[in-house]
Amino acid sequence: MARTKLIAGNWKMNMGITDAVDLARSVADKTASNTDVEIAIFPTTLALASVSEAVQGTNVQVGAQNMHNETDGAFTGEISPTMLQSLASMVILGHSERRQIFGETNDFIALKVASAVSNNITPVVCIGETLEQREANETSNILQSQVIAALLHLKDLPAHDMVLAYEPIWAIGTGVNANPDQAESTIAAIRNFLSTRYGSSAADALRILYGGSVNPQNWEDLSSQENIDGALVGGASLKADDFAKLVKTSSSITDLEIDSLV
Ligand code: PGA
Repeated sequence: MARTKLIAGNWKMNMGITDAVDLARSVADKTASNTDVEIAIFPTTLALASVSEAVQGTNVQVGAQNMHNETDGAFTGEISPTMLQSLASMVILGHSERRQIFGETNDFIALKVASAVSNNITPVVCIGETLEQREANETSNILQSQVIAALLHLKDLPAHDMVLAYEPIWAIGTGVNANPDQAESTIAAIRNFLSTRYGSSAADALRILYGGSVNPQNWEDLSSQENIDGALVGGASLKADDFAKLVKTSSSITDLEIDSLV
């Protein structure tokens, strides 16, 4: 099953509006020819409106880094799916930083995932194990329970309206990526699990990204793995050239071909 690759840049708590708009324009510019890859950038909430305006009409989609599950109400500091709808087509949910630093529970994440899907915002649902869990051979169990928990309120697997991101916690921001075999076998196991639970056609259609210290040097080998459908990128997404290189690695359209058409 051919799944369109997705390269997603998680900008985390970096850059105010002006810098975010500059980076967004630069990314759109450098990846304009790579129309066979889906590209999404996730600026801070503050910059969402300006960034989404800046990339309008380009290949680049805009996503949010978080949201609340409710549409409105007394939730100081939060932002709702309906507020995001006109600004973002995707939202990162269950990122390990939200889980670990801000104490987000599986229950809360499950409510958000269901809310994103029903509000037509594609959730990029993050799962991942700690180093201790990997060393104790608990990776499969941990990932399966995270998947079950995140999908708790959904009857079926929304294969075309959701993306899963496998991000081993030990690989995030550490410079140590999962090697291609580790990433591929772990993601293949997740897909296999989804297949037994939701059927093979849904599991085959769902995109599963790898995230954790992806950079232009290691992406080529990771990207060529059968089950890795793209990347969720932190650090390397903050430099337009690096991010564009990741996109180009996953694209079958070369700039040479584009030049020869002009
Ligand atoms: P990193 O972050 O690429 O800097 O490791 C990935 C992420 O947190 O999504």
